[in-house]
Amino acid sequence: TALKPLIAGNWKMVGLPDDLGRFAEAMRAWGGTSRGDLLICPPATLIGAAVQAFNGLGIAVGGQDCHAKASGAHTGDIAAPMIAAAGGAFVIVGHSERRADHAETDAQVRAKAEAALAAGLTPIICIGEQLQQRQAGETLAVVEASLRASLPEGDLARLVIAYEPVWAIGTGLTANADQIAEVHAHLRQVLTSIHASGAQVKLLYGGSVKPGNAVEILSVADVNGVLVGGASLIAADFQAIAMAC
Ligand code: G3H
Repeated sequence: TALKPLIAGNWKMVGLPDDLGRFAEAMRAWGGTSRGDLLICPPATLIGAAVQAFNGLGIAVGGQDCHAKASGAHTGDIAAPMIAAAGGAFVIVGHSERRADHAETDAQVRAKAEAALAAGLTPIICIGEQLQQRQAGETLAVVEASLRASLPEGDLARLVIAYEPVWAIGTGLTANADQIAEVHAHLRQVLTSIHASGAQVKLLYGGSVKPGNAVEILSVADVNGVLVGGASLIAADFQAIAMAC
């Protein structure tokens, strides 16, 4: 059976209460429907407010990162149980911006994903190659190694994986349908070889997803949704992408 698409927005370090209010108002006024599940991951300061603002709209809320520990002396960090207690249902882990800005390793990403699962959150584990790695023909090897090293042990059914080529994030460049299909087919094959539940893992594509390319991307085999950055800040664009599956 086909997996229900997940249309996820990552607001990154953008968004004040007024922005959330305007976005929620536009979503409330929206006449459209989506075949997919909708998710917004706002900055941590807005998680609780977003849960309230999206009440009745069918939009889940998630965090953008969590610590590997459930609590402790880690100034500035946020633990997975805190996101869950604020009403979040998902958390992004291992986004390339966290890997770059905070030198996060696959082992840390795995520990964060395990912490997310323990808190009842669905982790969205991000992986993707750099431009030089693609140009060197290393894409499949790089994403496979990163996937294997970032995956929690055991049943995979509750995981979401986002393939985000680093060169396509925030650049206006997207991987083409053939490139996405090749990586997603490979990830699916690796996941099912690790555990039968690998067939249930939702594989998202991320990297400059916009209303104009969403239909093509969402129709690629083994693309079970998208992780949208910039375009998820604009309600009309997020709605158009949500209707593209
Ligand atoms: O998490 C989202 C991705 O980094 C994509 O961001 O749609 O702005 O390229 P973008």
